[in-house]
Amino acid sequence: MESRLFFKRFLSLPGQVGSFVPSSRRLARAMVAEMRPDPGLPLVELGPGTGVFTRALLDAGMPAERLLLIELDATFAAHLRATLPGVRVIEADVAKLPRIAAEQGLGPVGQMLSGLPFRSMPPRVRRRVGAAVAQSLADGGRLVQFSYFPIPPLPPEVAQEHRMAGGVSRFVAANMPPAFIWRYEKKNPSP
Ligand SMILES: C[S@@+](CC[C@H](N)C(=O)[O-])C[C@H]1O[C@@H](n2cnc3c(N)ncnc32)[C@H](O)[C@@H]1O
Repeated sequence: MESRLFFKRFLSLPGQVGSFVPSSRRLARAMVAEMRPDPGLPLVELGPGTGVFTRALLDAGMPAERLLLIELDATFAAHLRATLPGVRVIEADVAKLPRIAAEQGLGPVGQMLSGLPFRSMPPRVRRRVGAAVAQSLADGGRLVQFSYFPIPPLPPEVAQEHRMAGGVSRFVAANMPPAFIWRYEKKNPSP
């Protein structure tokens, strides 16, 4: 059922959805393990799609009320609201994340999990979305992002400007297609 919905959204918006199937549960668990979510702190999920990572976060003990999901697609956003009671879902472009985080009373975000299809975005959009994500992350915060490619999802110039140090932390073969998990940490500014 969710796979069908995902495939239909992919046919409508292939570049935005970036894949024709949702991520596997194996990838979702591996993403969450890289995150080590702190149940006492808010966690922002970017590009949740049908919510496979959200469910893994909830299974790992993350309280629903600490999660904030940002999803651009109205159909996915409606599905998330209907199937994940208690989780805040914002239908919006992640490029507006600094403003959304402020409106939601979050301030700099300490933990982010992302399924955004950075490598399917045109370079200009990738830079804009990447900068919004990097700008919104707190110093010392962590971003976990998957990609089907071993090349950095965040544009290197954006990562450098925002002191984001990252690399591949895991390869998950049990996904269609197999995926690399990238882990970024935002360094504190040098004194
Ligand atoms: C590859 S899918 C990943 C979905 C889910 N996380 C998973 O792994 O199955 C990418 C998701 O990012 C969403 N997305 C793409 N660009 C976005 C943007 N600028 N702002 C918010 N969501 C976006 C798409 O609508 C889609 O739900």
